[in-house]
Order: sequence, then C-alpha cells, then structure tokens
Amino acid sequence: MTVIRDWTPDKAHDFGREVLTFDHDLHRRPMFDDAGLAELLDRYPREKLGVFTMGDNPREWRTWRRGVAGALPGRVLLEMAREGRIWLNLRAANTYLPEYAALADEVFAEKEAMVPGLRTMKRDVGVLISSPNAQVFYHLDVPMVSLWQIRGVKTVWAYPVEAPYVGAEALEAIVLRETAEQFAFDPAWDFGAAMTELTPGRMLTWPQNAPHRIENGPMLNVSLSMEFMTPAALLRANVIYANGLLRRRLGADPAIQPGFSAQGLAKVAAARAAKLLKLQKAHERLLPVTFNLETEVPGLTKRAA
Ligand SMILES: [Fe+2]
Repeated sequence: MTVIRDWTPDKAHDFGREVLTFDHDLHRRPMFDDAGLAELLDRYPREKLGVFTMGDNPREWRTWRRGVAGALPGRVLLEMAREGRIWLNLRAANTYLPEYAALADEVFAEKEAMVPGLRTMKRDVGVLISSPNAQVFYHLDVPMVSLWQIRGVKTVWAYPVEAPYVGAEALEAIVLRETAEQFAFDPAWDFGAAMTELTPGRMLTWPQNAPHRIENGPMLNVSLSMEFMTPAALLRANVIYANGLLRRRLGADPAIQPGFSAQGLAKVAAARAAKLLKLQKAHERLLPVTFNLETEVPGLTKRAA
C-alpha cells in the first residue's frame, strides 16, 4: 500500500518537472489529530519553532513578522493557531522526532521507488500549522518541494520559473542570499499561474525554484512541507550561484561567457552548496522577534483563555 494513491507512469515521469497534484492518505493518521499536534508542539524543540504573523495584502510581504512561543503548552498553541492569525513552522521535524523520521523514510522511499532515477538527499519534513485566512507571500525555495494537505483548505498559486515571475538576476540574488526569499509580486501574474485548491488528502509539487504563494481558507490549516534535493537540483543551485558570482565579480552576462571555465567555478560553488541551504533556513530566523505569544496573539483582540 502506497502513501500516494494515484501514481501513473506519466505522473512519475513529470514529478519535479511540472506542477502536479496527487492523492494521498496521510491526513487519516492519528499523529495529525488535535491530541497528536499538541503533543508534537510539546516535543518539538521550542527554540527551533518558527512563529510568524502577516498582514492581509499579498503584495505587502514586509508585514511578515517573527515571534516566539515562550513556554506555552502545545494545546494552547494549537488553540491560538485556530483563533488568531499566526503561522507555525516546525522545520525538519524528521531531524528531531522519530515518528517524523519514520514518515520521511516511508515517503521518500516510495518516491524513489516510483520515480525512475530519482535519488533524494537533504530531506526536510516540516509541519505547518496555520490560522484561518493566513497567507504566505510570493517567494521561491532553493530545494525541491512537495506540499501535503492534512487539515483545512488552502489555495496555492505556482508561477513559471521565468521572467517576469522570476528573472535570472532575481533568482541569482535569492540563491546568493542577497535578498529575502519573499520578493516583489504583481497580482496580474496570477493569470499565468497554476492555481490549486488543496484539500485534505491532496499533495502538490512544482518545478524547482518555481515562485509560489499560499492563502488559507477560513479554517485551521495543517500541511506538511517536504523539501529535498537531488543531484540535478543541487547542480542547478550551483550553476545559478556560479552565474551570480560571474555577473557580480566579472560584470559578465553568464549566458555569453563561453570561454570562461564554468567547471572551475562550479567547483567553488559546489563547496558552498550545503552552506547555501543552511543559510536559507537560517534566514527566517534572522528576522527580529516582534511579539511573544505569551502576551500577545496576533489576530486576537483578547488572549485565549
Ligand atoms: Fe515555499
């Protein structure tokens, strides 16, 4: 019995290359019911817990703010997610909790068994617990991503990896960590996006580096964000990194530098690849802390009892 219910040869072939949806059964597991999530929040290292809030306008990504959860019990945090306007991000749960390590092993083994030639590394299974109507602004990720809906409904827009959605220079700037992952967005671009309504039991993947944004429906949302790299994905990140260096150090347009040793540069970039991923994950932790859920719950006028 597989976790994904609707593998076909076409979908397996297009996995990671196209925007694709799949049916899965993870939402039926007891680890994701209220008691399971409260326990998860209690056992996950509190200092690693990402706590965020945000404004309503999808263009105003600067309203993304970071908070902390203090020593609040998991069941209270879950209640705050249900009633307030917060986004809880439990990155790399598979690194800290054995049942998530087992889940990662199970899912990635299936992907590798079903997708011809797929080899995954740097696997990161994150849990997202987020409030009714919360959003994640337009951004892109360096690794490959699949988003598994467990509870609630969210709408996801995935945009092509090309101008005007993301040009080569913008992509390089993100990989080089010069800018936030969240960047300028024009609502008119939605016409060029693949829009998916994710309900419990659906999973969505998109091509590496595809910009995307998310809006929750009017209910508590629980999703799993499974990130991974492949040798090809790592190479692509390295090439973008190398091109970014070329453009900056040599003032060159990398697309028209056939004489330069791309291989030599790729070697330098390869040494940086692992570091890049760490930098990307560290980035959101560098935002200043602007609220503490122990005293202020964004979106709530009064503290949850
Ligand atoms: Fe993302």
